[in-house]
Amino acid sequence: MMKKLLSILLAVGMSVALMGCGGSPSVSSGVPSADSSPLHLAQAGVLTMATSAAFPPYESYDGENIVGIDADLAAALAERLGLQLKIVDMDFGSLIGAVETGKVDLCMAGMTASPERAKNVNFSTSYATGIQAVIVGEHSDIRTVEDLYAMLDEGKDLLVGTQEATTGYLYATKSVEEGGFGENHVVGFQNGAAAVQALMLGKIDCVIIDNQPAKEFVAANRALRLLDTEYVSEEYAIALPKTNAALEEAVNQALAELLEDGTVQTILDKHIHAAEE
Ligand code: ARG
Repeated sequence: MMKKLLSILLAVGMSVALMGCGGSPSVSSGVPSADSSPLHLAQAGVLTMATSAAFPPYESYDGENIVGIDADLAAALAERLGLQLKIVDMDFGSLIGAVETGKVDLCMAGMTASPERAKNVNFSTSYATGIQAVIVGEHSDIRTVEDLYAMLDEGKDLLVGTQEATTGYLYATKSVEEGGFGENHVVGFQNGAAAVQALMLGKIDCVIIDNQPAKEFVAANRALRLLDTEYVSEEYAIALPKTNAALEEAVNQALAELLEDGTVQTILDKHIHAAEE
């Protein structure tokens, strides 16, 4: 962590030093030029969007390309803003830091606009809703969320899988009184696909994950079943740096237009329809 911070600081220091040399600004050194436009982008002329691409239908790989709702929406936003789009893939837990430090301009990752995260980043208007859902193995006795609590009451060693650093992880690790299952009963995985893998291997009893990816995972695998019961409902939004009002305004303005003219709905329908077939 400290090392990373240091190298970021060094990189910033270096580009400041380069700019300070007073040479012609058009020298192509291979170093992306700092953005002098009012949007203060990570890279001039480019909207750099961070995501965590193991979360279909919001983001996943199709060959080498990252596709999905967030990729399409980011492309539409970039177009409105007259910018190129660059998508950077990283661990879900690194997204907020990347936005905070300005390494990227924003993040779109089916990310829930939670009060905890709002301490570090600003959120755009919401563009979609998510519901935390529960996946079990096809032969599991678990039928409802209440069955999970019954297992705890009976002293069974329930293990709930979630994706690290997600709201699902946060909820599940809370105490039973607060609507969770207690830290000892929760395993955090690097992403949803890894959690589902562990479920299929019988290492955990269920996976708590947002409903659209849940549907995709279940549709892709007969050995899985989705519970009818919903766990928690939330709003997805774009995370933006707290210190860039111009960018935030431009993004919210463009997003409002895309919500208004039906582009967002078309994008959602395109990908969510696929998940429900
Ligand atoms: N909505 C949940 C959250 O914000 C999960 C998002 C996970 N997204 C991803 N791209 N892996 O915590």
